[in-house]
Amino acid sequence: MSRMRCAISGIGHRSRTWISEVAKTYSDVAEIIALCDPVPGRCHDMCAAFGLSAEEYSDYDAMLAAARPDLVIVTSPDHVHAGQIVKAFHAGCDVASEKPLCLTPEEGNAILAAERECGKRLFMGFNYRHIPLCTRIREVILNGEIGRPVSMNLSWYLDYKGHGASYFRRWHRLMKNSGGLLITKAAHHFDLANWFFGDYPESVSALCAQNFFGRAGGKMHAARCRECSEGPACEFYSDIADLEKRSNELNYEIGAVRGYDGDRCVFSEDSDIYDTMALLVRYRNGGILSYTLDASVPFEGWNLAINGTKGRLETGITDNKPFPGWQEKFQIVDKKGRTIGGKEARVTSWPSEYTIHVMPHSGLDRLHRVPNLPGGHGGGDYRIFNALFRKAGTADDRIGVFAGALDGMASMMIGWGANRSARTGLPVRLDALDRWLPERPSANPDRPA
Ligand SMILES: NC(=O)c1ccc[n+]([C@@H]2O[C@H](COP(=O)([O-])OP(=O)(O)OC[C@H]3O[C@@H](n4cnc5c(N)ncnc54)[C@H](O)[C@@H]3O)[C@@H](O)[C@H]2O)c1
Repeated sequence: MSRMRCAISGIGHRSRTWISEVAKTYSDVAEIIALCDPVPGRCHDMCAAFGLSAEEYSDYDAMLAAARPDLVIVTSPDHVHAGQIVKAFHAGCDVASEKPLCLTPEEGNAILAAERECGKRLFMGFNYRHIPLCTRIREVILNGEIGRPVSMNLSWYLDYKGHGASYFRRWHRLMKNSGGLLITKAAHHFDLANWFFGDYPESVSALCAQNFFGRAGGKMHAARCRECSEGPACEFYSDIADLEKRSNELNYEIGAVRGYDGDRCVFSEDSDIYDTMALLVRYRNGGILSYTLDASVPFEGWNLAINGTKGRLETGITDNKPFPGWQEKFQIVDKKGRTIGGKEARVTSWPSEYTIHVMPHSGLDRLHRVPNLPGGHGGGDYRIFNALFRKAGTADDRIGVFAGALDGMASMMIGWGANRSARTGLPVRLDALDRWLPERPSANPDRPA
């Protein structure tokens, strides 16, 4: 059997995971025949790192025309996803896209229309669905343990020093590139909410602000750390000269990362994305999601509660996200406020399992224990690659874990609508989805026919 011929667009942080998996785990069924990045050195470095003999391109159209891949893997920045996906379909390729699918309803419409017209398929990289805890939540809901979900509280926390800051150092800090955290990051979270509800969103209202990073922080001394007089005295200092070390931390394992724009001041005055976000989403079948996302939290994690017609479930994850020096900052105090532990004390360790607490209206509470698997995104990455390259689990996908273009559009629409609502102060209807959904009466009495 011939191997799947894969081309990858955008040779940065995320592409490395895809390339590593294809090269090391799936080389019997897939091969990487082409890499594309406008910074050509990146393709070269990646080929060298994995011993690939792939063709290197700086122009996407040229790559499609010459390489003729079966599958295009889109790991480029968010604002170029739509154009590249549509072109790939028209070139006769299937597509695996990283989140978010795209940034606007118009782009979503173009992608779904092209997928239909060309008879090709988009595999949406929603790896969070494959995290064992998330898969189990969906199973608990489908098993009827809490009845039909009617409301959901989801709070997501980004570690201010690591993950949160990283979005303000790079291209994500501009709305035009990423749609802000409500699209580039929360695409995962809204997809989970849509999946848990088993429904599509209808309208959204949002309040958002920039409180900590960007201009709001008021601490910008230079555009980039490499030019800044504050240097390592700043807790957000990013040493571009030490990028090789940092790139290894980021999992690149490339000798030299060329053209990397990773040391923008996190307080850059041009940054126009929010770091504090709260929204309400109404679903077509009556469900209501309340969601918050904060990027200035001392740890990483999330809390979720879902109320159903027959009970409630609660779960969440608190990750220990160490950064250099964090242990020195930590103190344990006794009841009288005396310090009894400090350096080297650990707040939490990487847990070996998570729990889902189910509280049925009648009967006893239940605790589901879910192992925390090693590997990217709690094992989620492994499962998604296995599905794409070996079709593992796709034939008997009882819980609908594999996501496509419509799922990508539905999650993006919430972030897009929330950004618009935050600007206008008004609720935003997500009508662009109507065209793609099966006809069905709305359960919401105030929805016009
Ligand atoms: N699923 C996940 O968990 C996950 C994790 C990280 C990133 N992502 C997604 O992966 C994508 C890439 O993110 P990243 O962190 O790797 O960013 P990155 O900045 O590390 O890499 C992006 C690369 O794309 C290149 N690029 C820029 N314009 C391009 C174009 N027109 N065509 C081709 N390449 C172009 C850049 O030069 C860079 O090398 C984003 O869409 C991001 O949201 C997903």
